[in-house]
Amino acid sequence: MDSEERKCCDDFLRWALPKINMRWKGFRKVRGQVCKRIKRRQRELCLEHWEGYRNYLQDNPEEWEVVDHMARITISRFFRDRKTWMELGNKLLPQIVHKANACKRSVRCWTAGCASGEEPYSFTILWREKILPAFPDASLELVATDADSYLLKRARHACYNSGSLKEIPREWQEKAFYRDDSTYCLNEPYHKMADFYQQDIREEMPEGEFDLIFCKNLVAMYFEKKLAVGIFRKISEKMRQGAFLFLGSHEEFPLDEVRNIKEFDRKLQIYRKDTTDYSE
Ligand SMILES: C[S@@+](CC[C@H](N)C(=O)[O-])C[C@H]1O[C@@H](n2cnc3c(N)ncnc32)[C@H](O)[C@@H]1O
Repeated sequence: MDSEERKCCDDFLRWALPKINMRWKGFRKVRGQVCKRIKRRQRELCLEHWEGYRNYLQDNPEEWEVVDHMARITISRFFRDRKTWMELGNKLLPQIVHKANACKRSVRCWTAGCASGEEPYSFTILWREKILPAFPDASLELVATDADSYLLKRARHACYNSGSLKEIPREWQEKAFYRDDSTYCLNEPYHKMADFYQQDIREEMPEGEFDLIFCKNLVAMYFEKKLAVGIFRKISEKMRQGAFLFLGSHEEFPLDEVRNIKEFDRKLQIYRKDTTDYSE
């Protein structure tokens, strides 16, 4: 896509994204993926110019659903923001497991916007490699959701290219994956622990309360503030007292608007429901 095309795409996105309650700011750095999809869609509809697609949208409001679909950013990788994962494995998770064990219940974790499974499987690797050796009786319920059925199919298949594995500690990588030609596939014990569901977070959320919720690089990044606040309020209702919420490194949580969630570690983008102290 040349610079003229890119400019047209930027103008189009600045116009279109607010109409589907998305924020242009979140897309600025990653818009290439979306621009290519929209260009392909224009060709499918035999529309040569961006202006033509705008007019088409005005005449065919059902097409906004296609725009909504095309505006999903799907980039992910294992152990993204690795320092946060290490803090989780070394400090937070042992406390959570200890408390859950004392109440004879499972630890419940939800990864929202799980893409092709990189995030939930980072969790299962951490669980098997770090938690089970110290807490062999610990039990886990891991729910992963995404709006995109194609990504969920890939998540269930659990095979990846080497690029997305780079941040996994070498020793864990060797245990968790086997090589299949040029891809790396997750061994069964690591992927049978996650349950995947197709859900649009704007409309539904999994049942029950959670100890940990990952909502990274989705709501705060791409949704406009009013929509994001509404979703975070609902997410806070899905968190147990003292539960942790994880956001992406470039995201901001609307603390002023969602009062029962507090900052726990700003640098690592970890938030917490109220302030129950596990060490008390
Ligand atoms: C940028 S990826 C982030 C993946 C992962 N959480 C991470 O941080 O690496 C955003 C994911 O959110 C999903 N998504 C976008 N809109 C959604 C929605 N309304 N409901 C649920 N998932 C959505 C996309 O399909 C994509 O898999």
